[in-house]
Amino acid sequence: MSTVVAIDGPAGAGKSTVARMVADRLNYAYINTGSLYRALAYTAMTSGVAFKDITPEFLEKQKLEFRGVDLYCNGKKLESELRKPECAVGASIISALPFVRDYLLPVQRNAALDQWIVMEGRDIGTVIFPDAEKKFFVTASPEERARRRMAQGGEISGDATFESILADIKARDERDMNRAIAPLRQAEDAVLIDTTGLSIDEVVAKITSYCR
Ligand code: DC
Repeated sequence: MSTVVAIDGPAGAGKSTVARMVADRLNYAYINTGSLYRALAYTAMTSGVAFKDITPEFLEKQKLEFRGVDLYCNGKKLESELRKPECAVGASIISALPFVRDYLLPVQRNAALDQWIVMEGRDIGTVIFPDAEKKFFVTASPEERARRRMAQGGEISGDATFESILADIKARDERDMNRAIAPLRQAEDAVLIDTTGLSIDEVVAKITSYCR
């Protein structure tokens, strides 16, 4: 038996930090599903395969597995390389490919087998675990997300400006929300949490109180 808390939402809404803290507080395992799409984008880039040339056969050759919260691809632990801006863009591009989503569906479902888990992504409450016990849609205005990204400095290139970060966030929202398969959207039974103007602790407290 597993219990799933699904946390979905757009890029830069603070999902990862919040989901990790909620998992800690509840003593649940934590899985970041965006890292799976990023790992495939990273593997394609480092193998010299253009995103448009990714095939189901290429995917079958990759061995993706979670060992606890750590993601391994072909035996190598992937971490900081996945946070690079080009991996984020690549992940968003390849996540629109139906066979990429088909390939990652069982990887995500298997990761939740027999454990209590907080799983974070774009389609956890709508597609991966439509029967999840608790569902949250965590969002914030694009401007707020760009401000946070600018302040944190992570996942942006050295010459990034507020305007370029905002444009990147809007482009990623556009791609993630308008793809034909499993687009980013709030599940009907998900609780909407707009984090604009809220601190991380306030968001974590809100979600944990819904879960308890
Ligand atoms: O959460 P993230 O920024 O690491 O996700 C990177 C990209 O992966 C995101 O722009 C879209 C895709 N993704 C997805 O399509 N479905 C998920 N469950 C998680 C991520």
